[in-house]
Amino acid sequence: MKVLFIGGTGNISTSVSRLCVERGIDLYLLNRGKRGVEITGAKTIVGDINDEENVASALAKHEWDVVVDWIAFVEKDVDRDIGLFRGKTKQYVFISSASAYQKPPAHYIVTESTPLFNPYWEYSRNKIACEERLNRAYREENFPITIVRPSYTYDTVIPLVIGGWSEYTAVDRMIKGKKVIVHGDGSSLWTITHAQDFAKGFVGLLGHQQAAGQAFTITSDEVLTWDQIYHAVAGAVGVEPKIVHISSDLLVKFEPSLEGNLLGDKSTCAIFDNTKIKTFVPGYKATIPFNQGVRKTISWFNEDPKRMIVNPQTNEMMDRIIASYEGLKP
Ligand SMILES: NC(=O)c1ccc[n+]([C@@H]2O[C@H](COP(=O)([O-])OP(=O)(O)OC[C@H]3O[C@@H](n4cnc5c(N)ncnc54)[C@H](OP(=O)(O)O)[C@@H]3O)[C@@H](O)[C@H]2O)c1
Repeated sequence: MKVLFIGGTGNISTSVSRLCVERGIDLYLLNRGKRGVEITGAKTIVGDINDEENVASALAKHEWDVVVDWIAFVEKDVDRDIGLFRGKTKQYVFISSASAYQKPPAHYIVTESTPLFNPYWEYSRNKIACEERLNRAYREENFPITIVRPSYTYDTVIPLVIGGWSEYTAVDRMIKGKKVIVHGDGSSLWTITHAQDFAKGFVGLLGHQQAAGQAFTITSDEVLTWDQIYHAVAGAVGVEPKIVHISSDLLVKFEPSLEGNLLGDKSTCAIFDNTKIKTFVPGYKATIPFNQGVRKTISWFNEDPKRMIVNPQTNEMMDRIIASYEGLKP
């Protein structure tokens, strides 16, 4: 199979690229070559996907079994891809987001037929618009789409809510014995997936005869409370976290920029039914428990001080919110 990844050296896609090579796929990566991530056995096409003319000429001589765009976020990105790959690929995979699923959820278990509706987060609405554009291309011109909706998936990001992701701020606070904020009362349920687990489901969809026009969620089946997630991260650096619980509504009042990430995503429960991916990719099973996977992630951050970014603005925001909250009189 000859496969092109647009991206391919990111937080999720690095594990997928490595597994593709391991499975004997002839893998090409189109990216700017800025990450310093080596995927031994893959061929790299250096380019910026937004530089359409150069990309079109670099790709002109190729035909693909599968193209995966890891970094399409708005409708014009998928419009560009339809133009670039119409008649040139047997499958086109769009990476959407599980945050596109109905918020707040009307039912506690999310399946692929859960409605796509997110009034709180523009990022998710843009992913929905991409999906709608691609579904139209499938219906009207048989453009061979497959849609994959990852939920919170980690490897080289720290899967927390405030002060995590590519920042080390929340972890640094835990190490220093400072308080960290957990939204709600820490008991809402969430699913976090290691990129190596995600890769096992994802690679099974590449070239899959029955995947055209289909959408998939690929997650772990391990469901944790947010308190358990924060405790696991703290455990990975050998401390007990000092957690302050604050309702998501109040957090958004204190800091409106948190609305999308909280009300549009993390404030509600995220429990997924993975039956569909297990049906299409027999044997798919996530096997990395969060409290083990996150230790590898923390070690990766600790290997290079440049990765351990402590953001003073995030620290100030967390201090400000905690002080305001603790100043409230019952
Ligand atoms: N992680 C999650 O929890 C989660 C959840 C839901 C959805 N998603 C979706 O997953 C996708 C992100 O996947 P990821 O984490 O593997 O990606 P990522 O970490 O964002 O990595 C980006 C990749 O794209 C390349 N790239 C960036 N800008 C480029 C450009 N202008 N031209 C060409 N290449 C470029 C990067 O290499 P260079 O910098 O070298 O170019 C790298 O290979 C997104 O679509 C996101 O919405 C993620």
